[in-house]
Amino acid sequence: MEGPRSPLEAELPQVLDFLNKKLRTDASWSIAAEYPTAFSSNNLHNMRIIADEGSVLSHAVMKPLIIKSPHVIFKVGAIGSVVTDDQHQGQGYSTQIIKDCLKSATEQSCDIAILWTDLFDFYRRMGFELAGSEVSFVIEENFDVPPINLRFSTDNKVSPDAIYRLYAAHSVNSVRTIEETRKFLSIPQTKVYTAWEPNGQLAAYAIEGKGADLGGYIHEWGGSVSKLMALFAFIRAQKDQPYTIICPRHATNLIQALQTKDVTMNHGYLGMIKLVNFDQLAAKIKRAFRAEGIADIVLEKHPNHFVFGVGQDLYTINNETDMVRLLFGPVDFRGLGIFKEETAIKLEKILPLNLWIWGWDSI
Ligand SMILES: CC(C)(COP(=O)(O)OP(=O)(O)OC[C@H]1O[C@@H](n2cnc3c(N)ncnc32)[C@H](O)[C@@H]1OP(=O)(O)O)[C@@H](O)C(=O)NCCC(=O)NCCS
Repeated sequence: MEGPRSPLEAELPQVLDFLNKKLRTDASWSIAAEYPTAFSSNNLHNMRIIADEGSVLSHAVMKPLIIKSPHVIFKVGAIGSVVTDDQHQGQGYSTQIIKDCLKSATEQSCDIAILWTDLFDFYRRMGFELAGSEVSFVIEENFDVPPINLRFSTDNKVSPDAIYRLYAAHSVNSVRTIEETRKFLSIPQTKVYTAWEPNGQLAAYAIEGKGADLGGYIHEWGGSVSKLMALFAFIRAQKDQPYTIICPRHATNLIQALQTKDVTMNHGYLGMIKLVNFDQLAAKIKRAFRAEGIADIVLEKHPNHFVFGVGQDLYTINNETDMVRLLFGPVDFRGLGIFKEETAIKLEKILPLNLWIWGWDSI
């Protein structure tokens, strides 16, 4: 048995073959087409395998993301495609591999690691906790929007530059290139819905599906609220059945507009998050508070606890996972009943942090 280690370039086809057999049994495409940035040869150093006599037994991949938000620029290690061969499960391979991914995320100066799973207890043992926020809307019925002069299309052949221009206008987004956008646009099972101005400019876009995942879910979108609402109405009419739109909590104007329609709104978590460089993240957060004129923010890690608060209104937090919730939410600082009202008001200026990861970046 060898590893956890990165595969050699020559081993990549064999690793992908293992993943396709284990995770994409019924798919006609390779998993590499679903996650073009994670499984590219320039992310090989972030893939981890355990192998024995030339066979891959276990795997996970980490993709570092730079996420820009108004207060903080995060470095996030997204972890995915975690799998162990059936015959070798329960021997600690995935645990070893994930710990090695976390070590690598720490060494690469990630603030946090994130992953998407329904095996909550498995990842809790490694210090991950459900955190961050996601709001989703099931669009139950057709709806009307004020008349608007747009042309709608379901043609996937859209220039990545046009998508990128609207994507770049988001207040929270990952650093992407146009070339990466081009690769994302050709992910199998992706539907691209667009709205065009009479002058031929892209006014709004919405992306549904991503390989084996997110069918019936709009996981990426861009454009102004009124144009997006017109596009969402078009999509509902096109599909003739309900579909779901995923939104960040801070998309307050879009959320308000959607709430006026016949929708079912659900609150969820962004993912499972683990702190990997607390001091670095704390320094970024404290800088953000200082920029808001709050100089006496306290956010310190001690050997067995954290100290958190403003001025003299301080609180001891014993669990790292509680700290994750205080920083990324969901959290109601007033409802907690531990901080003074004036402290809660100050904390809410920056916290919970507006972290968001668009669908194409999830792995
Ligand atoms: C989940 C999975 C990756 C674990 O791999 P593994 O190499 O067996 O993991 P480890 O040996 O490190 O850990 C196994 C432990 O996790 C526990 N575990 C496995 N599945 C679990 C689950 N669904 N919920 C909670 N714990 C689970 C096992 O009970 C075992 O605990 P034990 O050591 O106390 O007996 C593996 O079962 C797998 O490949 N499953 C199919 C693919 C999959 O679901 N991947 C997850 C995508 S996020």
